[in-house]
Amino acid sequence: MKKTFDQIIVGGGVIGCSIAYQLSKRGYQVLIVERDQIGCEASSAAAGMLGAQGEFTQASPLFQFAQESRALFADLSVELWEEAGMDIQYVHKGIMKFAFDQQQYNTLKSLATFQQEAGYPAYLLSTEEARKMEPSLTEELHTVLYLPNDGQVSAYHLTKAFSLAAYRHGVMLHEQEKAVELLRENKKVYGIRTTKGTYYADQVIVATGAFGDDLLPDEYAIIPVKGECLLLESEQRLFQTTLWMDGCYLVPKQGNKVVVGASSIPGKTDKHVHAASVQGLLSRAEQMVPQLAEATINCFWAGIRPATADERPYLGEIPGINGLYAAKGHYRNGILLSAITGIYLADLVENKSVRPLYYDFFRGGQARDPSANVTSLE
Ligand code: FAD
Ligand code: GLY
Repeated sequence: MKKTFDQIIVGGGVIGCSIAYQLSKRGYQVLIVERDQIGCEASSAAAGMLGAQGEFTQASPLFQFAQESRALFADLSVELWEEAGMDIQYVHKGIMKFAFDQQQYNTLKSLATFQQEAGYPAYLLSTEEARKMEPSLTEELHTVLYLPNDGQVSAYHLTKAFSLAAYRHGVMLHEQEKAVELLRENKKVYGIRTTKGTYYADQVIVATGAFGDDLLPDEYAIIPVKGECLLLESEQRLFQTTLWMDGCYLVPKQGNKVVVGASSIPGKTDKHVHAASVQGLLSRAEQMVPQLAEATINCFWAGIRPATADERPYLGEIPGINGLYAAKGHYRNGILLSAITGIYLADLVENKSVRPLYYDFFRGGQARDPSANVTSLE
C-alpha cells in the first residue's frame, strides 16, 4: 500500500475534500484520512446556503472572502458535474430576510445600508412587493430585505462531488481511519500515525472541523456549536427564495422539500434533536409561510458547527512547525467558504503569494490579531 504522499489531509468534510480536489488538480499526490465517512459531520448537516451577504452584518476580510467564494459557485457547479458527474443543486434565487415589527425593520435597514455601501445589491421590499415575488409568504410582514445574489447548494452533494472529483484526480481516500498523532522532528512535520498505519508527507493539513483539537496547538481551539434542523415536505412547491427571520431560515430544496434550520447551542456535541427546538423552528416556519402547517415532517438531524472565539477560521501554516497547516473553524459558513478555501490552501501549500489582507486575518497562533473581529447572524 502507498505510504508516501505530497500532502496528507486529516478530515474528509467539505473543507478537506475541497483542498484535496484543488491540490490534485495541480498534480499532487494526496491522501485524505477520515475517521468515519466522507461528509458525515457538519458538511452533510448544513442547509447549504451561500449566504455571503445574508450571514454578515459588517465588513471584514472574511466578508470579502465570502463574496469571492460565492462568485465561484456558478462555474464550480458545471465543473463538478463534468469532473464527478454529480449535480450540487446550485440555485441562485437569493435570500429574503423578514422584519415583523419596527425594531426588526431598523435592523434590516442598517443591514441594507451596509450591503449597498459595500457595493452589493440589497433591496427593502414592502409586503406587497415581496408577496408578488413569493405569493405564499405571510401577509403579517412589516418589510423584507431581499439579497438577490445569495444562493444555495446541496451540502451533501457538494462534499461528495469534491471527494469524487478528487478521487478521479488520483486522491486516495481512507475512511474509517482516525489520525491519532502527527509525526514531527526538528520543528517539521513528516507524516501522521492513524488507527491503521503510518503515512508520510512533508505537508499535513488538519481539516477536522469541530473535532481533532488534540492535533494542533492550544491556540487553535474550536468551539462546537450544535445546530438542529428538520426537513418538511409539501404537496406543491411553495417558494423558491431562501427565507429568513430571527431564529429560523427556510431553504427550499428539490422535490417540494424545505430545510428548516437551525438552533444554535454552543458547547454541545451530542446529536439529539430536542422537542423544544423543533417546536420553535416549526412555529417560526409557519409564521413565515402559513401553508407549511400542512407539510409533513420528512426527517430531522443535528450537526456541529466548528466555531472559533473571534469567528474567523484558522487558515494557514502553524508558526514554528514547518509543513503543518490548519484549515478549520468555518463556523456557520463552511459550505459557502469551501470553494475559496480549497484554492487558498492550495496556494499556501505551493508557497504562492496570497492577498496579505487574507493572510494576516486568517493565520492562527500568536500572530493572530486579537482585536479584529467578525459578527455574523444567528
Ligand atoms: P466537518 O464537516 O465537521 O468535517 C470534518 C471531518 O473531520 C469529519 O468528517 C470528521 O469525522 C473528521 N475528523 C475529525 N477528527 C478526525 C481525525 N482525528 N482523523 C480523521 N478524521 C477526523 N454552512 C454554510 O455555508 N451554509 C449553511 O447553510 C450552513 N448551514 C449549517 C446548518 C447546520 C445545522 C450546521 C451544523 C452547519 C451549517 N453550516 C453551514 C456550517 C458548515 O456545515 C460547516 O462550516 C462545514 O461543514 C465545516 O466543514 P469541515 O470540513 O470543516 O468540518
Ligand atoms: N449557516 C446556517 C447555520 O449555520 O445554521
